[in-house]
Amino acid sequence: MIDFRALAQKYDTPLYIYDFNHISGQYEKLKKAFSGRKSMISYAVKANSNLSVISHLAKLGAGADCVSIGEVKRALSAGVPKYKIIFSGVGKRDDEIEEALREDILLLNLESEAEMERVECIAEKMGVKARISVRVNPNIDPKTHPYISTGLHENKFGVDIETAKRIYIHANNSDHLDPVGIHFHIGSQLTKLEPIKEASAIVADLVRSLLAIKIELKFFDVGGGLGIVYDDETTIEPYDYAQAILGTLHGLDITVVCEPGRFIVGNAGFFLTRVLYEKMNDGKRFIIVDGAMNDLLRPSLYNAYHRVEVVGKEGNETEADVVGPVCESGDFFAKNRPLPPTDHDDLIVVHSAGAYGFVMASNYNTRPRPAEVAIVDGKARCIRQRETFEDLVRLETMCL
Ligand code: LLP
Repeated sequence: MIDFRALAQKYDTPLYIYDFNHISGQYEKLKKAFSGRKSMISYAVKANSNLSVISHLAKLGAGADCVSIGEVKRALSAGVPKYKIIFSGVGKRDDEIEEALREDILLLNLESEAEMERVECIAEKMGVKARISVRVNPNIDPKTHPYISTGLHENKFGVDIETAKRIYIHANNSDHLDPVGIHFHIGSQLTKLEPIKEASAIVADLVRSLLAIKIELKFFDVGGGLGIVYDDETTIEPYDYAQAILGTLHGLDITVVCEPGRFIVGNAGFFLTRVLYEKMNDGKRFIIVDGAMNDLLRPSLYNAYHRVEVVGKEGNETEADVVGPVCESGDFFAKNRPLPPTDHDDLIVVHSAGAYGFVMASNYNTRPRPAEVAIVDGKARCIRQRETFEDLVRLETMCL
């Protein structure tokens, strides 16, 4: 049990809280599910990139899936070995490519022929051979929110099968490219197994046809996307997920890589906020709290559901919206939820806030980003201080 009152008193609100034991449990569940094969769990750093979170996972043996050189540097600083770091992303800058090659990370994941040419050219200039994989877009509808669906040709991600083949053949004949892997990621918050299985089968077929022309890949990266329970979703069991993928890999001696973000950290996280006021607008009840959309954007951006709970109170529930102080009607955490009457300084916990919470926070309305606290074996430790006004204006100069 997390003592939210004590944490609010010690660290103030709004506050992010992460249960590190839950993170370990999720990692171990997935690792175990793939235990019949060579596998690597490459944590998708974008979901929660706090250094302590990454380092906790690195100690358990996780690799890192990164989408900017900043994330690569975070992974390295947090102790992820370079040979477990993958650099993905549809638009890498030249300087990012160069730095990734200099750091000699496991591989760069290519998303276009144009990018392949850039990587080859930079590797040639540096006199190195770049290990690469290709992100294949299998044109599968993952049946999730359109903003987080990525595996259809109408999305900007990856290349089609024919282009992928051309890239592999070119790379295989190049002095500066070494094709070592293949990758797909069809979307996030996936709750249906079938699209993953279908995508995996398509990509495995491609791996077999490459093998037939003597291009032998070492890594089969199935992306991330495993969904979690926010409300009452039926989710995919890690064992079934692993079996569905492994079932497509007959005849292949290949290491399975997966890149979960949300599954690892989502339900480990809580966002704690304090009630400021209640008010009624013509019969509509609002609970106004000190956290806002700038701190936790998911409800505003995706209309995402997060369970909310008033700490230590129940009964006499009536429907209310939980809203923040930001000057936008889209600034809400919950709509029309049955909640007990609240008083000034009551605490509200927003659940499932560990993934895509703090990392998507901004300073909109000149609001300092919240502090982050880790709970390790029941003990709380601050892993990021609350920003101050001075932090927010530090890089600005008045030109007159
Ligand atoms: N690998 C790749 C290539 C990805 O694009 C992503 C997520 C992941 C792995 C990790 O996916 P996960 O296991 O966390 O589902 N901000 C959105 C989610 C965006 C996901 C982007 N890509 C949200 O709050 O729902």
